[in-house]
Amino acid sequence: MLNKITVVGAGNVGATAAQRLAEKNLARTVVMVDVVEGVPQGKALDQWQSGPVEGYDTRIYGTNDYELARDSEIFVVTAGIARKPGMSRDDLVKTNAGIVKAVCEQIARVAPKSIIIVVSNPLDVMCYVAMKASGFPRERVIGMAGVLDTARYRMFLAEAMDVSVEDIQAMVLGGHGDTMVPLVSYTTVSGIPVTQLLAADKLAQIVTRTRNGGAEIVAHLKTGSAYYAPSAAAVQMVEAIVLDKKRILPCAAWLTGEYGLKDVYCGVPCKLGKGGLEQILEVTLTDQEKKDLYASAEAVRAIQAVVGL
Ligand code: NAI
Ligand code: 2OP
Repeated sequence: MLNKITVVGAGNVGATAAQRLAEKNLARTVVMVDVVEGVPQGKALDQWQSGPVEGYDTRIYGTNDYELARDSEIFVVTAGIARKPGMSRDDLVKTNAGIVKAVCEQIARVAPKSIIIVVSNPLDVMCYVAMKASGFPRERVIGMAGVLDTARYRMFLAEAMDVSVEDIQAMVLGGHGDTMVPLVSYTTVSGIPVTQLLAADKLAQIVTRTRNGGAEIVAHLKTGSAYYAPSAAAVQMVEAIVLDKKRILPCAAWLTGEYGLKDVYCGVPCKLGKGGLEQILEVTLTDQEKKDLYASAEAVRAIQAVVGL
């Protein structure tokens, strides 16, 4: 258990993540910081009071300034505006870049040794903003997207094959956008290649549905985007770090030549442990997967250029 974890942004993803952190007993104190007065304070009190029922002693605080967050070991950054119907993730770039920059400057001030897990969209570019604004090394600025995209892919596959999702192993790489790359060549059902169990056209439909997974939910909700699975995914990354689990998870990482890509954040298989990003695993990809990964990284790079840090 850590001493303190802070979630920045007490909206749908942030507040749900704070609740999950407490329920998993990952920190003695969980702090939620938001710019809206009263909301983080009220939500935090309500969450803290679930402790006797859910079985945790975690003290949850809500605040509008960073003093309570001082010396947090991990930050989960969810601050920003969410996608609205008809709005692409990339439309969010300018507003959220300003927000994430301001947030990460504060994080560097109050907790210079912390690890930042970025959730705000457009995810890969916000990771870049967070790394630049904090001045932290890449080991301590990691993005959550691949865990969520992979969770969606795995659920769709499990349902299509009528098998337990526990037996679906898979990874979705690339940027968190329409160009993401579900790795069909590494998708198995208890080690059996998925291509032996599912027709090619059905598999292709699932890949497309995965790429549109966020938009599918936005179309239903109309006034916001997904948060139950996103918060679960972010907390799985936190847990891997807190418990030094050395889990291999698809995360957005700053690439310095891996997969032939450089100076860009992109989803790749990462080992997460107490040091944050401890290793990037380079696996052999098919020619098509390589092409798709490069195209996805280029799409991220184009938006990164717009931010201009
Ligand atoms: P939300 O609108 O419910 O919450 C965002 C919160 O951030 C609000 O409470 C707002 O007051 C706060 N905020 C704004 N500026 C701030 C600042 N400077 N400092 C602190 N807090 C600030 O949105 P939701 O649904 O929680 O989504 C949050 C972000 O996460 C969005 O950018 C969304 O697109 C992104 N997202 C990313 C996912 C991923 O896979 N990486 C998945 C789901 C959401
Ligand atoms: C999602 O994939 C909005 O990026 C968010 O649900």
